[in-house]
Amino acid sequence: MSKSSGGDRWLSELGYKLGQTLGEGSYSKVRVATSAKYKGPLAIKVVDRRRAPPDFVHKFLPRELSILRAIRHPNIVRVFEFIEVCNGKLYIVMEAASTDLLQLVQQLGKLPCVPDARDIFVQVVAAVRYLHDRNLVHRDLKCENVLLTADGRRAKLTDFGFGRESRGYPDLSTTYCGSAAYASPEVLLGIPYDPKKYDVWSLGVVLYVMVTGCMPFDDTHIHSMPRRQKKGVFYPDGLGPLPEACKALIALLLQFSPASRPGVGQVAKNTWLKGALLNKDTSRSLNTRID
Ligand SMILES: Nc1ncnc2c1ncn2[C@@H]1O[C@H](COP(=O)(O)OP(=O)(O)O)[C@@H](O)[C@H]1O
Ligand SMILES: [Mg+2]
Repeated sequence: MSKSSGGDRWLSELGYKLGQTLGEGSYSKVRVATSAKYKGPLAIKVVDRRRAPPDFVHKFLPRELSILRAIRHPNIVRVFEFIEVCNGKLYIVMEAASTDLLQLVQQLGKLPCVPDARDIFVQVVAAVRYLHDRNLVHRDLKCENVLLTADGRRAKLTDFGFGRESRGYPDLSTTYCGSAAYASPEVLLGIPYDPKKYDVWSLGVVLYVMVTGCMPFDDTHIHSMPRRQKKGVFYPDGLGPLPEACKALIALLLQFSPASRPGVGQVAKNTWLKGALLNKDTSRSLNTRID
């Protein structure tokens, strides 16, 4: 298909200029864009319904859109508008970030635990807390879905493709989604699961990846992952020291039993993370509230 298919022509009539591709998924592509209507760079997620299976079109995409319409938080990507065109294409116009957390970790090898990783993690926790407080769950928390501003300081959660409404336990999910490397044992084992506790597990993987530059559990052999997850995480030799409080938090988030994992509200109260908030509050202007 040519680059300027029907939908893209429509978009340019509306004043948008599409640029390079930022990321690509199975049924969507995210491209840089500009428009006279909005200041600053934009990113447009182009979803092609015609190439997507019924499950995606009728179940997951409507959920993603209704969540995006309902939420607004400084650590969640801001969506400006949705543009539907008649050929089945959907354009989600949002603020553009400079990079994502996976790219940053790959570029630097790993992040300094304090302040960088901790500051980013606090913001991701704030975004997930906002969602869980509204009985929404993400179910695909991973470094690729955490966007970052150019200075790497402001984090914004994105990609609600597996998001849904859930009150958490005893409201269980049976859709085993996300990425194996970030998936909790109960999800890998196919046991009906509390999606809020699944998000908490994935948060643990995100923190581990940031501070080590490695995945905590190799997903080459998925069937043996739960057994390895039960043993707990190991840290690579020669990594250098990590604060005990950081390791303790990772261990807490990666508890094998979902019932033993804290809720995200509990995580937000973690003393080591609170240290990040205190440092920030004193270094920022008085009217900035981080929560
Ligand atoms: N607003 C944005 N700004 C900059 N890059 C983005 C933005 N949204 C997405 N990306 C890039 O595109 C990738 C895929 O976007 P995402 O919404 O996660 O789609 P998918 O559902 O295909 O995973 C992200 O991992 C990120 O690298
Ligand atoms: Mg994604």
